[in-house]
Amino acid sequence: MNLEQKASLLSGRDAWSTEPVGDVPSAVLSDGPHGVRRQTGGTDHLGIHRSLPATCFPPAVAVGSSWDPAVAGRLAAAVAAEARAHGVQVVLGPGVNIKRSPLCGRNFEYYSEDPLLSGALAAAHVKALQAQGVGASVKHFAANNQETDRMRVSAEVDERTLREIYLPAFERVVEQARPATVMAAYNRLNGVYAGQHPWLLTTLLRQEWGFDGVVVSDWGAVNDRVAALKAGLDLQMPGNPTDDAEIVRAVRDGSLDEAVVDRSAARVRAMAERWRAAPGGFDADAHHALARELAAECAVLLKNDGAVLPVGPDVGTIAVVGPFATEPRFQGGGSSRVDPTRVDVPLEEIRRLAGERTVTTDPEGADLAIVFAGLADADESEGYDRTAIELPGEQVELIRATAAAARRTVVVLSNGGVVSLEGWHDDVDAVLEGWLLGQAGGGAVADLLFGVVSPSGRLAETIPLRLQDTPAYLNFPGEQGTVRYGEGVMVGYRYHETVGRPVRYPFGHGLTYTAFAVGDLAVEVTGADSARAALTVANTGGRYGKHVVQLYVATQAGPVRRPARELRAFTKVALGPGESTTVAFDLDARAFAYWDVAEGRWLVAPGDYTVQIGENASMIVAEETVELAGEVLVKELTLDSSLGEWLAHPAVGPAFMDRLTAGMTEEQRAQAAEHAGMLRLVESLPMHQFLGFLPAPLPERTLTELMALSRRQG
Ligand code: BGC
Repeated sequence: MNLEQKASLLSGRDAWSTEPVGDVPSAVLSDGPHGVRRQTGGTDHLGIHRSLPATCFPPAVAVGSSWDPAVAGRLAAAVAAEARAHGVQVVLGPGVNIKRSPLCGRNFEYYSEDPLLSGALAAAHVKALQAQGVGASVKHFAANNQETDRMRVSAEVDERTLREIYLPAFERVVEQARPATVMAAYNRLNGVYAGQHPWLLTTLLRQEWGFDGVVVSDWGAVNDRVAALKAGLDLQMPGNPTDDAEIVRAVRDGSLDEAVVDRSAARVRAMAERWRAAPGGFDADAHHALARELAAECAVLLKNDGAVLPVGPDVGTIAVVGPFATEPRFQGGGSSRVDPTRVDVPLEEIRRLAGERTVTTDPEGADLAIVFAGLADADESEGYDRTAIELPGEQVELIRATAAAARRTVVVLSNGGVVSLEGWHDDVDAVLEGWLLGQAGGGAVADLLFGVVSPSGRLAETIPLRLQDTPAYLNFPGEQGTVRYGEGVMVGYRYHETVGRPVRYPFGHGLTYTAFAVGDLAVEVTGADSARAALTVANTGGRYGKHVVQLYVATQAGPVRRPARELRAFTKVALGPGESTTVAFDLDARAFAYWDVAEGRWLVAPGDYTVQIGENASMIVAEETVELAGEVLVKELTLDSSLGEWLAHPAVGPAFMDRLTAGMTEEQRAQAAEHAGMLRLVESLPMHQFLGFLPAPLPERTLTELMALSRRQG
């Protein structure tokens, strides 16, 4: 292959396929992730033109609430089958960006405010998709947490926050599921475009995490082609012959090493050759049924006063109201929009399950009213952020008027981003948060309302009382080209729990129709930085159901401010009435570690760690504290270290005090002891400054010896 041919491999042939060159086949890439968006006519990456009919499975916002990697995996396996049927080699997704603010217009495409939950679901998605021979593209790498100014804005994020919050989901997917591609985001990270960020795309992704696939640009994300290539961005999408020529020119004038071109061309070739599963068909009916089953795992029953749900035999007349009852909203706008094979209409599905009951649209005097409310298509989308979290005023009116007219009222919500429940929550008996449930959401909601299935979804993001209570409120979406992640690691429940701010519903909340009890929590230390937790879960209610066991770790160990608690393990268990089971979690170092900026690595500090089992992030139902030996940092002292650091050093501190008081008389010593507290005033002085205050200088040799001692002993 000559240079021009190799360069042409590095950008697409068109919007959705790579260039076939010599014996290298073309590969088709399509959105994703909750259904295949294969365009064969007009093309765009904003969801405007039509695409071939495909099953619209529940979007990530819903899958996040399933808390079940099996849901993500079954969804992805079905998407893979449809991708093969439509001749697609790589499906663009999943999106694992963290929900930093409820306002992000694209939150419906992301799983959670928590990195472990996001990463576990995404890894299951990628594994299942790729097991069927279809490549994945984990996106948008990295710190793409808003739509405002998304193609230029610089996300200013400190290293610990990146490592603990914004990167772990990518890290988990790359290390555990080996995705075919990683998609570089539009935005800048700390001033440098993600698509031309050498640390992000090479040092971290390839050298540290071992990624060996293709880095593809988000569509139109390349700014300086040569800089991007050097940084580690292999494939530019869509096609761009001008930039290909730029690459050739740079090699010819010596500003780009041809070996860099060779390396990226080899990766694109490997991708195009590897992901070529045989085409096949798919059973649209079976996939629709699967979409319904999965959607029912995702909806979250937020409130159910007086066990109004499931709809009981005492209910004679049901009123179904609200625009989404007949025109459901089931996915978000933008590049992920799928042209569905069919759409369930909630009203019809309710009629089907209502049996002998009367179903009307007039709530006046109805035994039960079901209001379908939520956000309209235009209220949220890729491309722009929201500015408020309230439901549209007319919907609030509708809910309140219905609640006043009917005997009991249930609200079913359809929304991709969190909405406030204030102003109407207390007027209604039950709230089912349906998020966006995909094309079979209408059937799934009916199944849940009538108890064909017990709800088992849990919130993957906090529902705040007010937007002002959310951690990124003061910084989102930034100004004048930058957005400062000033809340640091205190994202979502990490913030709310740490500051003790009340919320409407906490992360992890969700009700069901049966009851569960957890007990016998036992935590055993298995090493200096690891432990094993075991507990029993019992279904104490009268129906089959599923329970999400949530394990959090709470600690104040180490030199950094830790969140009140952090989710470190979870699992969803299914139990019949009266059944119980034992659940065990092996907690490795990462469950206890923080990112130490000075050391540039993960560190488990010696100290106490409380393992907590939460009904949700605010309600702990069992806990046990263990002490971990952790890693004692050998802190080397210098003349720039503060007096406080010298005194705190276990070996050097006492030795230093000895030397300091060595030449004193008894009386001076007594005086010094009396004024020991005064030392606090000067603790922050660097040693070289403190030495200047001493009446008699300490010999240089003494200092050198003490510093040497600090290197030997922690
Ligand atoms: C989106 C990506 C998407 C791509 C291709 C971009 O606008 O950010 O998520 O995969 O378009 O449609």
